Amino acid sequence: MDKLRIIGGTPLTGEISISGAKNAALPILCASLLTADTITLTNVPKLNDIATTFKLLNQLGVKAVRNSDDSVCMTADQVTTLEAPYELVKTMRASILVLGPLLARFGEARVSLPGGCAIGQRPVDQHIQGLAALGADIKIEHGFVVARATRLKGAVVRTDMVTVTGTENLMMAAVLAEGQTILENAAREPEVIDLAKLLIKMGAKIKGHGTDRIVIDGVESLHGATHRVIPDRIEAGSFLCAVGAAGGKIMLRDAAPETMGATISKLQEAGLHIAVGPDWIEASMSTRPKAVDMRTIEYPGFATDMQAQLMALNALADGTSVIVETIFENRYMHVQELRRLGAHIDIDGHTAIVRGVPKLSGATVMATDLRASASLVIAGLAAEGETLVERIYHLDRGYERMEHKLRQLGANIERTTH
Ligand code: EPU
Repeated sequence: MDKLRIIGGTPLTGEISISGAKNAALPILCASLLTADTITLTNVPKLNDIATTFKLLNQLGVKAVRNSDDSVCMTADQVTTLEAPYELVKTMRASILVLGPLLARFGEARVSLPGGCAIGQRPVDQHIQGLAALGADIKIEHGFVVARATRLKGAVVRTDMVTVTGTENLMMAAVLAEGQTILENAAREPEVIDLAKLLIKMGAKIKGHGTDRIVIDGVESLHGATHRVIPDRIEAGSFLCAVGAAGGKIMLRDAAPETMGATISKLQEAGLHIAVGPDWIEASMSTRPKAVDMRTIEYPGFATDMQAQLMALNALADGTSVIVETIFENRYMHVQELRRLGAHIDIDGHTAIVRGVPKLSGATVMATDLRASASLVIAGLAAEGETLVERIYHLDRGYERMEHKLRQLGANIERTTH
């Protein structure tokens, strides 16, 4: 199994490009199920979760081709089965995103129920209740969500909590429903906006995306479109935390700083000097970081997907910080691994108290989920001596060639199998 070997202590300097956003690309790829025409996408990152999505869509009959210019063409003109099997859904919960499009276009879908996952239970009850509100006959049978509807009917749907993929699934279902759908308490994440923009290019009538009330007027059919996936704000934020922890000066190209307000202001509070342009971020750090408190919350608040990486920075900071995770109940699995590197962190329910130490020291640690893995890499870059991060298949799900990009910034990091 692949590992990352990091010799910490080298400041990061140089320039890298940020990849397309995983969490925007996943629903966008699934949206190709909504039309028989071709959807052409650029800036689709090369990640394991994207490969899993291609596999799932292929299995349904969608033709997915990556061209030599790196654009991706998706054509769902011959969908042969309406079932997403357990083997694929269990490896990637976002597979649930085929439910809304399949049901809306073909009147039927069978999607294996995702199980719990490392960061929490993550039920899909809101997806199911929302589709039922749109008129679907939907039940759980033999571990599958089984949904049927001759044609979905627009309705007002208010989810109990803000859910990102829930909003995306319901939006993709509602675009082909009869009449008007209003999604209340909708997610405002940039990835939801990006999906709405693609759907509008395909002929959908959507207003209010980016607010908590999305209004969708259903249309009879959708057509092909071309779209560039937005830059990954979490990847960019992770590299900013890396320079915060290791020191140095980096330039991130092809980034979207306007989607990163909460992260950028927290990192400035921690002492980073950050300058931004329309599609670039320059960041430098020459001192020990200052401890910063944070509370994860839905967009535009501080993202749960940045919590572990900022914790790595706080582990080295001058002072004590209080971190509260409000989105997922079990997203502190990086804590025991950060402790192995010498961090002083106590957990009390949803709250973590981080007492910054002047130095971390390299050790062998185990990645437990995607963002936890990134936090261990960040800590390893700043730690004294050698850190070996095991089980980095988690990292490969969501970061494109992270070690290559870090090497480009001068880090001493390599992938190894032993
Ligand atoms: N929830 C329910 N029922 C539902 C849906 C959600 O109880 O039907 C709960 C969840 O258990 C969680 C909260 O609502 O406590 C919010 O979950 P949400 O549905 O927003 O999460 P998600 O859509 O499954 C996406 C991202 C995650 C990111 C979260 C929160 C994708 C593919 N995944 O997940 O990304 O953490 O939103 O922002 O977009 C990652 O990239 O590392 C990652 C985990």
